[in-house]
Amino acid sequence: MDKLLVEGGRSLSGKVHISVSKNSSLPIMAATLLGEGKTVLKDLPVLRDIQTFKQLLTNLGGVIETKGRETLMESSSLKTFFAVYDIVKTMRASILVLGPLVARYGMGKVSLPGGCAIGTRPIDLHLEGLEKLGARVSLEAGHVLAKASRLRGNRIALPFPSVGATENVMMASSLAHGESVIENAAREPEIVDLADFINAMGGKIEGAGTSTISIQGVETLTGCSYRPIPDRIEAATYLLAALTCRSSIEVAGCIPDHILSLLEILEGLGCRFDRGENSIRIQKPVGGWEHFDSAHGVSKIIETGPYPSFPTDIQAQLMAFLTSIKGRFSIVETIFENRFMHVAELRRLGAHITLRGNRAVIEGGGELWAAPVMCTDLRASAALVLAALRAKGRSDILRVYHLDRGYERIEEKLRGLGASVERGEGPTV
Ligand code: UD1
Repeated sequence: MDKLLVEGGRSLSGKVHISVSKNSSLPIMAATLLGEGKTVLKDLPVLRDIQTFKQLLTNLGGVIETKGRETLMESSSLKTFFAVYDIVKTMRASILVLGPLVARYGMGKVSLPGGCAIGTRPIDLHLEGLEKLGARVSLEAGHVLAKASRLRGNRIALPFPSVGATENVMMASSLAHGESVIENAAREPEIVDLADFINAMGGKIEGAGTSTISIQGVETLTGCSYRPIPDRIEAATYLLAALTCRSSIEVAGCIPDHILSLLEILEGLGCRFDRGENSIRIQKPVGGWEHFDSAHGVSKIIETGPYPSFPTDIQAQLMAFLTSIKGRFSIVETIFENRFMHVAELRRLGAHITLRGNRAVIEGGGELWAAPVMCTDLRASAALVLAALRAKGRSDILRVYHLDRGYERIEEKLRGLGASVERGEGPTV
């Protein structure tokens, strides 16, 4: 099992290019099941989750070919409508094939994903939404089965703006008979991207990015050529990595508007940015980094929430940064239970953090020291890398397969910024 060896205490400089979004690419790959003919997806990131999703689609009978930066996908002659447990258990996003399968082929079967490291993550909202569209949904022997001769448009009011449920229902509605309206829909940029993709296939979706999405079902959708949006979580991670190391870098090929909530929190702490249309450059704070380090003493409460609020997927990385700033910070996690597994590992690096339910209190500003630490989930792993980049000495970060699910060429990108990061063999635990 691979590990990362991080020699901390260096400052970073230069420019990092952001990859295409994993969380946009996965639903878009699922949506290719809706279209007839070939779809070309550009610049899909080389990540374990993307590889797993390709495997899932290939198992269903889809044909996938990679030519340089383009992935050609065709799913007109599927041989099964069953997403098996072996794949679903490694990636919960597999549930996203259920809506497209039942909408286009009249039947979809997906193994139940079960719990995961960051919480129980049920799929009830996905299933209720599909039922509202007329699918007959049954749970049997560890899998969920959805059937329908033709889905019918309907009004679906989500009790919570779930990203995955909005995506599944939007995909299914796009081939349903008549109009559907999703109320209290998720507003994440990935939802807008999925709607743009479906519209590029000939779909009729309006309102994505607001809480009310209307979908006029069409008879057929056809393949198209598409590049998903840049990864806002990756962009945020590199910004926070540089700030944790008190460095000015440029994060290129990102959409600053997608991480406004983070930029506002950071500006409130005295960080300064030059925002371009597709890039963010960190500027030195007023008075320089030394002043930044001595002047703080702030007390702040930060709460995760559905977009446009502060994203749960950046919570761990922000926490790593906050451990380096003088002051007392509370982070309240409202989206997932059990999403504080990085806390114990950050403490091993010297951070002062206490946990009370869904609230973490960080007493920032102390020194971090190098130590061996263990990754527990994707974003928790990124937080450990950030803290290790600051801690003087060598930290071994074990179980980096979590990191490889969502960060393309991370050690190469960090080395490009001047960090000392190597990949090595870790213990096989
Ligand atoms: C997506 C992202 C994930 C991100 C999350 C929240 C992908 C592949 N993953 O996950 O990185 O952290 O959005 O921004 O895009 N819930 C239910 N019932 C459901 C569905 C969800 O109770 O049927 C709950 C979940 O348990 C969780 C909350 O709603 O507590 C948010 O989940 P959701 O927005 O659906 O996240 P995902 O789509 O799983």
